[in-house]
Amino acid sequence: MANVLVTREDPIAVVQLNRPEVLNALSEELMDELVRALEELDDDKAIRCIVVTGNDKAFAAGADIKSSFVEATPVSMLEQDLTTRWERIRRIRKPIVAAVSGYALGGGCELAMVCDIIVASETAQFGQPEVNLGIIPGAGGTQRLTRTVGKYVAMEMVLTGRRVKADEAKAMGLVAHVYPAASWLDDAKALARTIAEKPPIAIRLATEAIDVALSSTLDAGLEFERKAFYLLFATEDKKEGVDAFVNKRKPTFRGR
Ligand code: CAA
Repeated sequence: MANVLVTREDPIAVVQLNRPEVLNALSEELMDELVRALEELDDDKAIRCIVVTGNDKAFAAGADIKSSFVEATPVSMLEQDLTTRWERIRRIRKPIVAAVSGYALGGGCELAMVCDIIVASETAQFGQPEVNLGIIPGAGGTQRLTRTVGKYVAMEMVLTGRRVKADEAKAMGLVAHVYPAASWLDDAKALARTIAEKPPIAIRLATEAIDVALSSTLDAGLEFERKAFYLLFATEDKKEGVDAFVNKRKPTFRGR
């Protein structure tokens, strides 16, 4: 794959967007490779957490305006099957950490938001500038940003296209941690390793339960959580975790 580089550091893997000359603009080819890389890692039992990242200057500056939008029509956009690719990313079961340095704009911000956790370098800038092109976010921006930061802040960001810096993004709940510019990727990988040490089935059900909170009523979410909670009492990892606590030792979780 030319547009996406995959580095395995079992039990984590790093997927790096690799079009630095255009600030990792999300061409169709890049998106296809990204989906393929994530699905392969999702099926790989040795991998327990995935980091999606860019480079120091850009996570991703959005859809590739030059290759995708200049001649685009509603029909060509429909044929690109934009939604399917994004849905496939959403359905990855392993936790994905978006490690953002530099620009995360338009589809880049939306890509970070389709991941499970966003962490940022202090140089990161998030924004939905689509309105400057005469369009609106098309890969979940109006929905996920609003659910994350609330109506009034999302409205201001989407209607003005303003970029917010890492600290402001953290204050509004979009970013979990802001790391120093010198160590942001190492810090993001350390976070991924921490998650990778946890029991995989519990991690999967916790991820699903939190996602259900965004798409259902409180009653339905509580019901989902309760069933998932009970189910985990059937796992070997629950026995291991409880036994390790009782006997004051470090647990080893096997995902069973
Ligand atoms: N698509 C295609 N090429 C892009 C790009 C994009 N989204 N963003 C940057 N590039 C290219 C530039 O054209 C430039 O290429 P050339 O050297 O060949 O001219 C190269 O990357 C470097 O960019 P700049 O010279 O512009 O770098 P800068 O540091 O001066 O500015 C920037 C950086 C503010 C991010 C600016 O590039 C910019 O505004 N980019 C567009 C951001 C944007 O509008 N994103 C939303 C796209 S729409 C979308 O994503 C829809 C959706 O919901 C899926």
